[in-house]
Formats: sequence, structure tokens, C-alpha cells
Amino acid sequence: MAEIGRDIALAKAYLEQGDLVGIPTETVYGLAGNALDEQAVVRIFETKNRPAFDPLILHTDSLEKVKSFVTSIPEPLGLLAREFWPGPLTVLLKKKAMISDLVTSGLDRVAVRIPNHPLTLDLLRALDFPLAAPSANPFGYISPTQAIHVQAQLGEKIDYILDGGPCAIGLESTIVGIESGTVVIYRMGGLDLSAIEKCVGNISIRSHSSSHPAAPGQLKSHYAPRKPLFVGNLDQMIQEKLDQGSRFGVLSWTKNYALPEGFPQYPLSETGDLAEAARNLFGYLRHLDESEVACILSEWLPEVGLGRAINDRLRRAATMG
Ligand code: TXA
Ligand code: MG
Repeated sequence: MAEIGRDIALAKAYLEQGDLVGIPTETVYGLAGNALDEQAVVRIFETKNRPAFDPLILHTDSLEKVKSFVTSIPEPLGLLAREFWPGPLTVLLKKKAMISDLVTSGLDRVAVRIPNHPLTLDLLRALDFPLAAPSANPFGYISPTQAIHVQAQLGEKIDYILDGGPCAIGLESTIVGIESGTVVIYRMGGLDLSAIEKCVGNISIRSHSSSHPAAPGQLKSHYAPRKPLFVGNLDQMIQEKLDQGSRFGVLSWTKNYALPEGFPQYPLSETGDLAEAARNLFGYLRHLDESEVACILSEWLPEVGLGRAINDRLRRAATMG
């Protein structure tokens, strides 16, 4: 099992020798390795069972360092970077040759972000290379929002997990790029789209492609529990499942439902707070997936603010047809 702790010097030592470390961020935990070391990058793909066509995000701690990895930062993206970094924003920028094609899966843009977590920022400042870090979950499964989630799934494969407590946001970063002068959203996430619009005006959302996604986090099935997940009208679905005599769990928006003794249910936010719902989403899905139920029933959240990113995750996690 991996050791869990708050020792930045130890995390640094592992990373410098090419090993992988679980790191906290404000969005989700990452599985980090030296982005300039091709062997470490290959280990990230192997450890996650991640297909080579799904590129990684570079994590660093300053705009100066970002500039050393990319050819330029076109202005509307620079504006966003200055406004929201460190924070839940990932920016696609033309890469310099020093960034391996392995990191970008052969694409000419590299995804970069400055995460907003004090421990990880300290670690990044101490390193003289950027960290490549996908979410620290096996490919396609629910993202980790606590150190113990990383331990549960990847603990056998890595030596150290830096414990930064539960993630403050709980949803992956919002991914942006630019096409013909317009800011494009490739993945909705922890940074609300209205904040981006306020900063740069009109944006275009390109996060629904499924066959050849620009961001494979946008694959149709992703963020998924092992148990079937159905999203729809909870009253109706609960009645149907009760009639069938099936044991299920409920992930609701605000309400508690009248369920038989021992059927687990988790309201995402009883007060209707979308930020709280985002923080709870992946952890609750995990609890339900680990509980003794045959399936999980859920419902759509209001399609506003972070609710859009939450619904996006539910849609991709849901059992099809
Ligand atoms: O919040 C986050 O972004 C977390 C934390 C750890 O920083 N990371 C994360 O990484 O969610 P990952 O690998 O699970 O998802 C990254 C997404 C993938 O869907 C990937 O395809 C997309 O970013 N991506 C990375 N580089 C890209 C590129 N050059 N072009 C298009 N999409 C890219
Ligand atoms: Mg991921």
C-alpha cells in the first residue's frame, strides 16, 4: 500500500527518481509524475490503464514556467489565466518541442494548469520540472476527491500519496482553448462558464462530441461507477424498483425519499447549494457503488452554474439505454 502523508520533501524525492505520487488539488486528486521524463509519463498511462490517445495535463506553479513550455499564450486565454490561476482552469496552448508527444498524445497543443492547493503549490515550487497529472483513478472510473480514494484504487501501484484533505471543489477543471479567435470550452468543470463569459465575452461549447473527442474526458462513458446508474425522475424510478423488489441506492439533489430500512440515500445538498453538491458528488457515488445495492438512482440538477458540469458527469456516468 502507498504511504499517506504531508511530507513534501518525500514526495519531491519520489518524483525526482521517476516515481509517481498522488497529489491533492482543489478539483480532484492527481496521479503525478515528472512530465519531462518519458518513462514516468509511460508509467502514468500504465498505472491508470489509460489509453495512449488520452493526453495529460501539465501542472505547474507560475505563468513564467507555463511560458517556458508553450510557444505563446493568445490574449483571451492569457486573460483567463491571469484571472483564474491558480484555480480550476486548464488551458490548451501550442506546445514547445521539449514537451513530449507522449504527454499530448501527438496533438500540437498541451493542456496546462496551475492548481490551487497550498501543499501541491509548495511541491511544484520545489520541483524543477512540471508534473503530468491525470485524475488518480483507473481509466473511466469515478475521480478521487480524498487521499483514501486514491489509496483504495491505486495504492498498490504507487509509493506515496500527499494528503491535502478533501478537495474543495470536487469536479475536474474546466478545459478551454481558442479557435478562430473564440474561446472554446472542451470540458465543463469546476470553473463556472458564466465567470469565463464575464471575462472574455462570447464562448463556444464543444464538450458534447463523443466519437473523436478533443478531450477524452468527454467520452460518452466516463466517471462511471461499476453499478448501473440511472438518472431521471426519482419518484417514478423508485416506485418501479420497489415494485421489482430490487435493492437500490439514491443520489438525490436536495430531498430525502421514503425508502425501506437500509436502502442508502445521499442528498447532494439539502440546502440546494451547487458548490456543496459538486464537493459531494464523486464521494457519494463511491459510497453507493461500494454499498450492497443492485443499482443507483439519481436525478438531474438545475442546468445552471456548476449544475451543468455536475449533469455532464452524471450523463457520462449513467448506464446507457
Ligand atoms: O482538475 C483536473 O483537471 C484534474 C486535476 C488532477 O488537475 N485532472 C484531470 O485530468 O482531470 P484527466 O487526465 O483525468 O483529464 C484531462 C482531460 C482529458 O480528458 C484529456 O483528454 C484532456 O484533459 N486533455 C489533455 N490534454 C489535451 C489536449 N492537448 N487536447 C485536448 N484535450 C486534452
Ligand atoms: Mg480523469
